[in-house]
Amino acid sequence: MKICSTSENKQSEKRISITPEIAKKYINLGLEVSLLENYGLHLGYDNNLYKSLGVNIIKDEKELIKKSDIIVQLALLSDDKTSLIKENQILIGLFDPYNNKDKIKNLSKKNINIFSLELLPRITRAQSMDVLSSQANLAGYKAVIDSFSNFKKAIPMMMTAAGTIPPAKVLVVGAGVAGLQAIATAKRMGAIVFATDVRTVSKEQVESLGGKFLTVEGSENLETESGYAKETSEEFKKKQEELLGETLKKIDIVICTALIPGKKAPLIIKEYMINNMQSGSIIYDLAAVQGGNTAYTEVDKIIDKNGIKIISEANILNKLPVSASSLYSKNVFNFVSNLYDKENKKININLEDEIIAKTINR
Ligand code: NAI
Repeated sequence: MKICSTSENKQSEKRISITPEIAKKYINLGLEVSLLENYGLHLGYDNNLYKSLGVNIIKDEKELIKKSDIIVQLALLSDDKTSLIKENQILIGLFDPYNNKDKIKNLSKKNINIFSLELLPRITRAQSMDVLSSQANLAGYKAVIDSFSNFKKAIPMMMTAAGTIPPAKVLVVGAGVAGLQAIATAKRMGAIVFATDVRTVSKEQVESLGGKFLTVEGSENLETESGYAKETSEEFKKKQEELLGETLKKIDIVICTALIPGKKAPLIIKEYMINNMQSGSIIYDLAAVQGGNTAYTEVDKIIDKNGIKIISEANILNKLPVSASSLYSKNVFNFVSNLYDKENKKININLEDEIIAKTINR
């Protein structure tokens, strides 16, 4: 069995799917690994390092794609590259199945086995493959670091002979994986942290990290069976707006992470709420690509509204691509191991396995 990965479009994606550590693991599992020349160079992994581990370094991308059984990537390959993929080849990655529906359908019509890792079920057995969690965790951390570096005041309380600096107040909207890491990071740096979510179970998680949970009064638990959030009612939205509108007047930094899988991100922070915030405050919107949680969010821009900065990036993980690639490659390796029948040395697409059945695009 041959597994390969080719370079991503580095303008938009700096992460890679096979780090040297993971290349070795595939080889130990019994797979032959091939990578495009200079695949990991931008992260400090040169061709010789991969070669020393037993990886084939290929110059011709067409040959690389055509001769592999399994292709692992981050984003969906461009049309000219996907046209090289043939029946029974396997394509694995973060293919954004909600927005790339037609492209993915066309590939699966050609009997290409295309797996989108966003669709992994959140069951215990899939935790080691959970790319959304591993990447969201890093995104939550980095959003706090970047917000703090844009903030023009110190974060922790400091009592000095020259006077006292008060601690920064942080609000985290959406206490899922990214939000919980944002809370932990902000707390570690000495901020006072508030958080809110529509899933009532998140209250305990926020509190266990030392955050103060803001409950929307009279709200019911808006959690689906798979652990994600449901869309909120008009009444909930109104109550949440009242609660956050008042809170935001005293907040220095807001980290937005609220998402509903497959849907546009909920608009939670409206124009007037931002206009009421203190000048110098920062909002980092991690939901930007899905439409954003604020009225002013624009992907890849820092918007300045009367001294309040609204920051967002298309891919914050490009700012820590080594850590993100390390976790992503491990997640993908665990997914491939589950597909690979070690005894017979072949791929077994067992549709009775929930992990395989839910991630394959048919
Ligand atoms: P996500 O990225 O889809 O959403 C982020 C957060 O935004 C969620 O906590 C969601 O409840 C919240 N949200 C959505 N609409 C909102 C609104 N209008 N106002 C405020 N908050 C809103 O979710 P994520 O972070 O991928 O995971 C959600 C939960 O799934 C986790 O907290 C966890 O309990 C569960 N999970 C389970 C795993 C497992 O068992 N293997 C792995 C990872 C997560």
